[in-house]
Amino acid sequence: MDDISNTRILIVDDEQVVRDSLREWFAEDGYHVTTAAGGVEALTRLATEPADLLLIDIKMPGMDGLELQRRVKQAAPEATVIIITAYAAVDTAVQALKAGAYDYITKPIDPDDLARVISKAAAHQRLARENVRLRERIDAIAEGDMPEIVGDSPAMDEVRRMTATIAETDATVLITGESGTGKELVARAIHRGSHRRNMSMVSVNCAGLPEGLIESELFGHEKGAFTGATYQRKGKFELADGGTLFFDEIGDISAKTQIDLLRALDDKRITRVGGTRVIPVDFRVIAATHRDLARAVEEEEFRLDLFYRFNVFTIELPPLRTRPSDIPLLAQHFLQRFARSMNRRANHFAPEALQRLQAYEWPGNVRELENAVERAVVLQRGEAIGPQDLPLPICAGEPPGPEPQTLAEIEHRHIECVLGATAGNVSRAARILGIDRVTLYSKIRKYDIPRQRTS
Ligand SMILES: Nc1ncnc2c1ncn2[C@@H]1O[C@H](COP(=O)(O)OP(=O)(O)OP(=O)(O)O)[C@@H](O)[C@H]1O
Ligand SMILES: [Mg+2]
Repeated sequence: MDDISNTRILIVDDEQVVRDSLREWFAEDGYHVTTAAGGVEALTRLATEPADLLLIDIKMPGMDGLELQRRVKQAAPEATVIIITAYAAVDTAVQALKAGAYDYITKPIDPDDLARVISKAAAHQRLARENVRLRERIDAIAEGDMPEIVGDSPAMDEVRRMTATIAETDATVLITGESGTGKELVARAIHRGSHRRNMSMVSVNCAGLPEGLIESELFGHEKGAFTGATYQRKGKFELADGGTLFFDEIGDISAKTQIDLLRALDDKRITRVGGTRVIPVDFRVIAATHRDLARAVEEEEFRLDLFYRFNVFTIELPPLRTRPSDIPLLAQHFLQRFARSMNRRANHFAPEALQRLQAYEWPGNVRELENAVERAVVLQRGEAIGPQDLPLPICAGEPPGPEPQTLAEIEHRHIECVLGATAGNVSRAARILGIDRVTLYSKIRKYDIPRQRTS
């Protein structure tokens, strides 16, 4: 097997003998191995030292293997998990496989079995990594220089104009707006439009960083800086050198990190945790938040001096409900994209579907619209997306047109929506509607609701 030394393996087992013997076995074969005696230790390790393959014992005191697997999936979705299980407990292994584990081996561990599983998993990892790289390249080519910011409302025209103007400068930008309004999209557009476009845009998710790890995440650390720092690691500041540093959810950082950040932004020089060398860094800062930072300053949750650093240029993304004219454009944009990627025929919205989309409030903004369209493209096999292909709250929303409706019209529409929401499952729809199946079938006939969605 090639490039073994690039494959990093983390062994999690509460039995020291198992850890030691596996470590020895892998080290002999030239793999990069670390171990942890339990779930919490494994997660802490992962945060500072990414792993490609995890071998996880199912039965451990405290956090068990299944729970750990679930958390690893969130913390390191790209890692491949292999479960170690007692021969007698193969049914738990099956559960693990269903939850996304790649394979399992049984205790007592047979070296041949282990060798086979590992080499298969390492090959799988390589392919997966290759795939991600290819996809990123394809996406970059497809997007051209700038990701497209769709919308022709005056507010979005202004956002595009600001984005293009600011991109050419090296100024700090603060992007505000509710969740799902396109803050990250605009940040990417600014980066792509800037002279730093050929370097990376490095994202820091300020809301997702556990307090104990944030320093090393931002500044990196030297080998041996703290227990668990087995290797030297570069932080986000260094990784963004020459490029753009994107602080997502900046309103959520702790008071202590605000001070660290302020210093780094002013000095443009950092020191790794446990290190002494001063490293100059050159980056452009973009920050985003769904919070009202000025208010956070008033409430003494956000430092005024840091607020000034970020608040040089502000781009405000309006909620989708305040710009209904953008909805058809965005919906059509997503429809084309999903139909192409899923190879579907759907190419337009029925007028009633568009009406419902425009009448809806969109608490999740553009992201919610994107998800609704994706779901509709999956459900619809024809060319037109109808109201019944939309999620229930949107489908069952305001009736089309200003005229009052008859009870029969409302009943017809509601049955269509519920059938759409249950993907045509009559039994489930009848249960939701509180009527029996026979009655529902007779109403389906009465209103002539298309057969293909009443399977
Ligand atoms: N104007 C737009 N044109 C095209 N796509 C858009 C637009 N606005 C948002 N999107 C898409 O909607 C999705 C959500 O946008 P994005 O992730 O940028 O939102 P966000 O404001 O960062 O949300 P959150 O606060 O939840 O992180 C993305 O897939 C993005 O590409
Ligand atoms: Mg975001």
